[in-house]
Amino acid sequence: MKLGILGDIHGNIEALKVAYQICLDEKVDKVYHTGDLGGYAPFVNEVVDFLVEHKIEGVQGNYDEAVAYDRPHCGCKYENDHQAAMAYISFKWTKKNVSERAKNYMKSLPFSISFQVEGKKVKIFHATPLKNNLYWYEERDTKFYLLMAEKANAQIMIYGHTHIPYFRRIDDYYFINAGSVGQPKDGDPRTCLCVIEIDKDVKVQFIRKEYNIQKVVKAIIQKGLPEFFAEKLILAK
Ligand SMILES: [Fe+2]
Repeated sequence: MKLGILGDIHGNIEALKVAYQICLDEKVDKVYHTGDLGGYAPFVNEVVDFLVEHKIEGVQGNYDEAVAYDRPHCGCKYENDHQAAMAYISFKWTKKNVSERAKNYMKSLPFSISFQVEGKKVKIFHATPLKNNLYWYEERDTKFYLLMAEKANAQIMIYGHTHIPYFRRIDDYYFINAGSVGQPKDGDPRTCLCVIEIDKDVKVQFIRKEYNIQKVVKAIIQKGLPEFFAEKLILAK
């Protein structure tokens, strides 16, 4: 079975269209998203409509939960006060501009999705099996990985949230951070798509592709979102 995974899209419809086309080109059997559909870029409603139209299932991210339930904070972590202030403007903008339909879609998303492939248990969640806003970076120690595997009760774990893709195997456990379609933070501004082939083995591929970043940059500025996030898209930081 071949899966296409769309990590943190964050309102970036241009990147989403390109990433989804790669799924089609790769002839994946099924496409999933790992949540965090709005924020930072302005196309939250378009992203939700696209996912619904193409029947792409997925899980609820911390940002989706906070937007859908009108929480005072998105539950994200920021590096400094300036970044936090910019993120707050973007969060407020998203809550104000999100459609009822998109909010209802976000509310309907499950915390996780589980299924079996070739006798292997697969689990998709946003950040960790227990919390949707904990940052699971690759540098975490082996003990943490194995604890998460125990909590997930799965062999193959697929998630996002950090916007930095990685794949790690420990014994018969597979840990796959799908990265971010719409706002990569690993220094590569191209959209990031994760393709996972599961048979006897598990093969993981991260595909990067350019998209019309300037169109999104212009839209961020035109819609009154902080220019800060346009710069972040270009820098991929
Ligand atoms: Fe997130």
